[in-house]
Amino acid sequence: MSEKKPQGKKANEVETTGHSWDGIEEYNNPLPRWWLWTFYACIIWALIYSVLYPAWPLVKGATPGLLGWSTRGDVAKEIQQFDDKNAAINAKLVATDLNDVAKDPALQQYAVNAGGAVFRTWCAQCHGAGAGGNKGFPNLLDDDWLHGGTLDQIYTTVQHGVRDPADENTLPAPAMPAWADVLEPKEITDVVQYVLKISGQKADAAAADAGATVFADNCASCHGEDAKGMVEMGAPNLTDAIWLYGGDVKTITETVDKGRAGVMPSWTARLKDADIRAVAVYVHGLGGGE
Ligand code: HEC
Ligand code: HEC
Repeated sequence: MSEKKPQGKKANEVETTGHSWDGIEEYNNPLPRWWLWTFYACIIWALIYSVLYPAWPLVKGATPGLLGWSTRGDVAKEIQQFDDKNAAINAKLVATDLNDVAKDPALQQYAVNAGGAVFRTWCAQCHGAGAGGNKGFPNLLDDDWLHGGTLDQIYTTVQHGVRDPADENTLPAPAMPAWADVLEPKEITDVVQYVLKISGQKADAAAADAGATVFADNCASCHGEDAKGMVEMGAPNLTDAIWLYGGDVKTITETVDKGRAGVMPSWTARLKDADIRAVAVYVHGLGGGE
């Protein structure tokens, strides 16, 4: 880099900063007016903005701003708008007998849509996005119901849950007892073979015969003489191919040994009655409703 002294400037030439690189000199032009004023305007705008709106970060949030605006407040306002808009139809849903909802196509359509939204928000994490269920969380699409598949039964289940200690009206289904300390090991292997047999799976015939007696003595009181389940007990049908926990030898043995007590939360305290009704209509309409 050779330092070259700037030549004396001509009358119409702009002043330079005196910097020169390989003969290239740097003009010392003033900032254009428009640019400068825009710059000042931005500073003023930023100051006003930071006083009116949330701006400066503090330890636990930001300065709130004089206008009191917040994204949370915006959302609350929007939710309120929707609630107001739906107030009339929600009131109608609450006032209508669940079994008559289908007679009013507009109401039915609303309930299914609103219920679907409730389901995706509150129920899908346990019952699956498509309500197909998971191990321990029943499939709500089929016509196999632990606690009954009529609109009223579904409504009651959702209102009060199953074995939820927080709700005194929760479904009083007894739990599936643990049998490991009650029955002899052979009685357990026998009754498991019996369950395999009646559910149409491969089973040891002699063991299953012995298991039939164990079943009649210990299990029929809840699952029924025919093992087809009892809604009042929340005890599942053991003769079909639909399993809450699993129908293989290992899982059935585990169920019988240790017992099961699935908990469905009560929703009365968390959802509005209109939402519970809507989701009951939605679930009932999924295909398995009775
Ligand atoms: C924390 C997990 C969980 C959530 C969330 C949940 N459920 Fe359940 N639900 C269960 C379990 C577990 C059972 C089975 C209870 C049992 O073993 O008897 C159940 C049972 C049911 C049943 C009875 C099924 C039958 O076969 O009789 C219905 C209907 C139901 N749930 C609907 C809902 C709806 C609607 C929601 C959302 C508002 C919901 N559930 C949210 C866990 C959940
Ligand atoms: C006090 C009532 C009661 C008695 C007695 C009882 N069960 Fe159950 N059983 C239940 C209930 C309730 C469930 C469902 C548990 C749940 O929802 O979490 C169940 C679930 C089961 C399951 C799971 C089914 C599935 O879909 O995964 C099997 C298997 C079973 N019982 C077998 C038996 C056998 C075998 C006996 C007798 C040794 C027996 N039960 C006795 C109430 C009972």
